[in-house]
Amino acid sequence: MRIDVLTLFPGMIEPTIQESIIGRARNHDMVDIHVHNFRDHSHDKHQSVDDTPYGGGAGMVLRVEPVVRALRSIKGHEQALKMLMTPQGIPYSQDRARTLSKNDHIIIMCGHYEGYDERIRDYFDVEVSIGDYVLTGGEIAALAVIDSIVRLIPGVLSNEASHSDDSFEGDLLEYPQYTRPRVFEGKSVPELLLSGHHENIKAWRERQSIKRTQNRRPDLYQKYLEKIKK
Ligand code: 6GU
Repeated sequence: MRIDVLTLFPGMIEPTIQESIIGRARNHDMVDIHVHNFRDHSHDKHQSVDDTPYGGGAGMVLRVEPVVRALRSIKGHEQALKMLMTPQGIPYSQDRARTLSKNDHIIIMCGHYEGYDERIRDYFDVEVSIGDYVLTGGEIAALAVIDSIVRLIPGVLSNEASHSDDSFEGDLLEYPQYTRPRVFEGKSVPELLLSGHHENIKAWRERQSIKRTQNRRPDLYQKYLEKIKK
């Protein structure tokens, strides 16, 4: 898979994708990530990427020309899935991450400032938001999207099975986990987990997942109930 990121702040993206699991996936050629500063595609003499809004009002608006030029400079952009990061986008989810992880090429556009010239939207296939709060720009949101996609590429996580227990896979939150020591400040690990009885442990974990989802995320619990009814 190839991912291209368009941003005015490559320094917000580069160090993060060099680290940890994404960094390792890149080093092993399981994903090819390129970061582009679309200011390089602003050809006026001040290299401006934004301007005041027609009709007046506060703030600046991202200009359409540098964005479209940057987009067209990316090899294979015609076939790529082009994603615009914006708080006005559709809510991002594990389902979407799963779908996106099957793409060969994704281009992710990060906005900044007050907003996009509306015409920019015509050049993108999908608009995505990572939640109902406002960030100063799309970079942190793009990193969340990249991280969630890359970890789903086969071979990126050493243990393939670790996906299927993830929170949200199957609409349930993950069960409680413990490791050594058996007792810490009077808090004990549940006896059952030390029993070696795999079937009982599996059943306990499933019950815990269900209980935890019911308590913390009644919305997900309803979704789960509807699914198992079918
Ligand atoms: Cl994609 N961008 C910005 N600026 N804020 C956000 C967002 C994106 N998703 C949630 N908040």
